[in-house]
Parts: sequence; structure tokens; C-alpha cells
Amino acid sequence: MLYGELASTNLTAKEAAKQGAVHCTAVLADSQNSGRGRLGRSFFSPPGRGIYLSAVLRIPTDETSLLRLTTAVCTAVCLAVERVCGLRADIKWVNDVYLRGRKVCGILCEGVLGTDQAISSVIAGIGINYTAGPDDFPPELREKAGALYMESRDSAQSIPFASREALAAALLREVLFQAEHLSDGAYLEEYKKRSLLPGRKIYFTDPQTGNIPASAIGIDDLGGLIVRLEDGTVKALHSGEVTVRFEFNEEKR
Ligand code: BTN
Repeated sequence: MLYGELASTNLTAKEAAKQGAVHCTAVLADSQNSGRGRLGRSFFSPPGRGIYLSAVLRIPTDETSLLRLTTAVCTAVCLAVERVCGLRADIKWVNDVYLRGRKVCGILCEGVLGTDQAISSVIAGIGINYTAGPDDFPPELREKAGALYMESRDSAQSIPFASREALAAALLREVLFQAEHLSDGAYLEEYKKRSLLPGRKIYFTDPQTGNIPASAIGIDDLGGLIVRLEDGTVKALHSGEVTVRFEFNEEKR
């Protein structure tokens, strides 16, 4: 389903799923006026600049699959971007895809409840900043956000060498493949290779106590971030927000 402008492809995909849309139904929009991000944030989705894609997935909804889904979709995005654009992207746990130290893609996976109030399908929502000029992002995103193809100030326009359509098709194929193979967890090897956080000092945000300092030490078999707290306790995080603690002279990520 292709649209010009939508409020949010995730919302339209959810509605379609509730009306019985089959596995693999894809909703794509050229722009979103209420693009949704994680933790109640919005996702900047201007026309002609991005890929805003949501897929209806009718996959097993056991706990392992649901816990792995976001990290599997993140891996799928990196593989599709590498295959189609030849660009090597990295991952900041849990769902941010980074290129040249800037976030170029976000992922929002949401469950759809059936009439019995159990999760009947899931929506994998992907927002990729495909092209952008240096001043295109709103001020609050300018330091952090980037695009696969950045237009520089001195050239009128840099020409993207892979089409949005080709990338969207590859994304969908890769997301479906990874979503249908969640039970074996094979994607985790690729996710770990691309993960930026292990080995770094971080803060994770805890709703009760605020920012907690820790060291990221790895990724577990469910895609959780394994951290060591300052008192030596080791635990795995499966949700929430992590920020990197910058060392002197370190490049910002
Ligand atoms: C994040 O970085 O917090 C997640 C952003 C997810 C954005 C995508 S764009 C396509 C789909 N539709 C939405 O409303 N959100 C997701």
C-alpha cells in the first residue's frame, strides 16, 4: 500500500492488520505528519527525503520472538543498506542505525491486539533518512541525525546512487527473512558485529532512579544489552534508553 502523506505508517498498518491484512502487507508513505518514535517521541518524516515503511508480520508471538524482533529488524536494515547502497552501517542498541557517527534510521515494532486481547500480529516500522541537506533537520536533531546520502553545503546536490524503491524492496525482503527466522537467533552474530556499545561506558535511564552509570559488556541471546553496574552487578537490559558517556577527545555517537 503506497501513500503520499500519512499520519503514521505504523498506525495505518495496525489498522490494516486489525481488518485482516495478510502477513507481509507493507505500508509505505512519502511523508508522515505524526511519525512515531520509541518512548512516545515523534519521528521527523519530511516528503521526498526518507523511506517510511511498516510491515504487518504474522509470526509466532512467543516471548523469545517478541524480545528479538526489534534487534532482528535492525540487523535487516543494516544488511539491506549494505547490499543496495554499499554503505556499512552500525547499530546503537537497541534500534538505532548509525552511519558516519549519525543516526540514519529508527525502528518501532508494535504488537497488534486481537479480540482476545492477545498479540495477534506485529508491525515492524522503519524510518530511514535517505537524503538530507545540512540544515534540513530541526535544530534539536541537527547534532545527531544524518542520512544515507548527505548533501554537502558546497555542492548543489550529491546524487544518490541507489534508488529509494530498490532500497525499500530490499528492506522488506530482508525484514521478512529475519522475522521468519527469529527462533534460531542466527541474526545475533551480525547484530553483535555491528554493535557500537559493548566496551563503552554508558548511562541507562531507569524510570525510578534516572540515569545509571554502567559499562556495556555485550549482547545476550535475546538481543538484550548486558551491562556491568558500578557496584559490579551484571544485568541484561531489554528496554529503555542508553546514552554513551563520552571520553575526552572521543568522536560523538
Ligand atoms: C525511533 O527512532 O524512536 C523509532 C522511529 C521509527 C520511525 C518509523 S517511520 C515508519 C514507521 N511509522 C511510524 O510512525 N514510525 C515508524
